[in-house]
Amino acid sequence: MNKTTISEVYKYVDQEVKIGAWLANKRSSGKIAFLQLRDGTGFIQGVVVKSEVEEEVFQLAKSITQESSLYVTGKVQKDERSPLGFEMQVTGIEVIHQAVDYPITPKEHGTEFLMDHRHLWLRSRRQHAVMKVRNEIIRATYEFFNQEGFTKVDPPILTGSSPEGGSELFHTKYFDEDAYLSQSGQLHLEAAAMALGKVFSFGPTFRAEKSKTRRHLIEFWMIEPEMAFYEHEDNLKVQEQYVSYIVQSVLKNCQVELKTLGRDTSKLENIQAPFPRITYDDALKLLHEKGFTDVQWGDDFGAPHETAIAESYDKPVFITHYPTSLKAFYMQPAPDRPEVVLCADLIAPEGYGEIIGGSERIHDFDLLKKRLDEHELPLETYQWYLDLRQYGSVPHSGFGLGLERTVAWISGVEHVRETIPFPRLLNRLYP
Ligand code: 4AD
Ligand code: MG
Repeated sequence: MNKTTISEVYKYVDQEVKIGAWLANKRSSGKIAFLQLRDGTGFIQGVVVKSEVEEEVFQLAKSITQESSLYVTGKVQKDERSPLGFEMQVTGIEVIHQAVDYPITPKEHGTEFLMDHRHLWLRSRRQHAVMKVRNEIIRATYEFFNQEGFTKVDPPILTGSSPEGGSELFHTKYFDEDAYLSQSGQLHLEAAAMALGKVFSFGPTFRAEKSKTRRHLIEFWMIEPEMAFYEHEDNLKVQEQYVSYIVQSVLKNCQVELKTLGRDTSKLENIQAPFPRITYDDALKLLHEKGFTDVQWGDDFGAPHETAIAESYDKPVFITHYPTSLKAFYMQPAPDRPEVVLCADLIAPEGYGEIIGGSERIHDFDLLKKRLDEHELPLETYQWYLDLRQYGSVPHSGFGLGLERTVAWISGVEHVRETIPFPRLLNRLYP
């Protein structure tokens, strides 16, 4: 007999197979039992008909508890009604481990309860689907940047200097020195781009943000490309191509998961480069027209503003040329207009907010030194970064895409806490 997985049963239609699985849920009557089986690769319904199996098998089917682990044998059959397209006519069941009372029952549970049981909640159909979408985005990311000739570079996690400002840094001791958990790999990636041309990183980043919103995690994963000789417009092109690529990859390879999540896929099909662009100035006008009269030039946009701007488009939208005063020290001022910078935030549709922050970087030594002074950043710490502007300095650009916000948008889940296996939130370090 063929030992297989749920994702591979399509190869064995009308044949008998054996799978290792957990019992996700169960319904039974006097004559028939329906077992919802899951094995990590997918979900399948096992049907146990009393008149067709040995009495012992039927009694076992009725007595197994939720989340017990099993070896199940049965015949694979086509079934149009199931999302998978197949079900299993069960012939035999072997219980590996009978589970004790499982806390997450098929009824509704509150979010705090589910978060306390995240180690178990991950097993549910919906959470499984989100993790599969996340994995597809990761896979497509590597594929895209490898195809485009980028080299993956791993910046340090323990750092002495920070790109995005001091207030959100996690402090730790590095023997006798002070160190911080990385909030972005950008500065080190700029150095790597001068060695390797086009580079990207993909790693965890940390922000001690006291924000309790559906978009903020304390620990999140970021994809950060950095490209030598790329100017502002070149940078936007990479971003729209990359985001289109991951959306189209998920549409192609995660049909079952998107169906499980109830995602409206017509909204995703439309996500193809190019994306619309709007300057900060024009976005401000748009906000005023929409009744947000309190925002002034120089104010940052909050979540409601981003959502209002995004509503005017059915694709992600770049907001470009923010006031210099709002953005990090390293951003290149616009030619002839130093009060704004050559940057863009990419705002996802449907209220998911900013998924990318990026910019052209200052490559002039004197200007960068002046900006470090203005931001009162210690020269000793940033000497190595400034040094990059002394040896064949070139225009260069890059960006950072937040993985979890992107997973939330593409999956259509409300809150980023469901998009990472074990979220670190303001008041949550366990499980
Ligand atoms: O806009 P940010 O802060 O940009 C940077 O860190 C740049 N140094 C990146 C670069 O140019 N290499 O962060 C980039 C993205 C945001 O657009 C958002 O998607 C995500 O990271 N992000 C968060 N995601 C979840 N929780 C948080 N607390 C996040 N903070 C930022
Ligand atoms: Mg940002």
